[in-house]
Amino acid sequence: MKKLTIGSIQKRKSGVPLVMITAYDALFARLFAESADILLVGDSLNMSFGGNPDTLSATMDQMIYHTAAVCKGASETFVIADMPFGSYIDTTSALTNAMRVYRETPADAVKIEGGADKADLVRHLTANGIAVCGHIGLLPQAVRAEGGYKVKGKSEDEALSLIADAQAIEQAGAFIVVIEGVKADVATRVAQSVSIPVIGIGAGNGVDGQVLVFSDMLGLYEPFVPKFVKQYMNGAALVKEAVKNYADDVKQRSFPDENHVY
Ligand code: KIV
Repeated sequence: MKKLTIGSIQKRKSGVPLVMITAYDALFARLFAESADILLVGDSLNMSFGGNPDTLSATMDQMIYHTAAVCKGASETFVIADMPFGSYIDTTSALTNAMRVYRETPADAVKIEGGADKADLVRHLTANGIAVCGHIGLLPQAVRAEGGYKVKGKSEDEALSLIADAQAIEQAGAFIVVIEGVKADVATRVAQSVSIPVIGIGAGNGVDGQVLVFSDMLGLYEPFVPKFVKQYMNGAALVKEAVKNYADDVKQRSFPDENHVY
């Protein structure tokens, strides 16, 4: 598949929905690249791969390590790197850390959580040559401050505030925005209120594309399956069965057999 650019991504507004999926390493990135338009190196890796209860302890060094690996596995796919919690507390730290992503990896863009409150920061990054993906609605990095993962857009006030967030992020120069955990009808209104693509996760079908965390949609992450996740395979069961078969073979000395020796 031909690598998308910011221009070709933006042309997909209201067109064929954009397919985004998270990737954390070269191995899976190479597999996903055949069908995905955009790979997101999400800080969700801190949970599924790092074994942590939330995304907050992910570091800049870790994100850069994983982003570089994803880019190696999928050099012909547009890659967005998540900026981890605490890496964009002001415009100076945001630019310093975003520049690290560009200098130390070939990633195409960075993602920042937050709405109108982050508009100045997004403006500063885009003015300095960084392509920014916004992230509004349910913000995983706010889980401790908000006391849990809370679906947004349940009242008209929240709906108007989400529309204002998306518009502020667009005006600040973001080329795309992720909307997470928002009532479907409100997410549709948000998508209709801006001219940049709005990519939904748990936000219904009225947006310009979808993103899923790959370990969720492949059924690999067992601790919790969010309601909005469709599992396209039962990865956990398949992996466990394969490893059990291997263990049985080893114990019975049926592996390696004559086909698997030098
Ligand atoms: O970290 C991540 O995987 C994300 C998605 C939930 C959009 O930000």
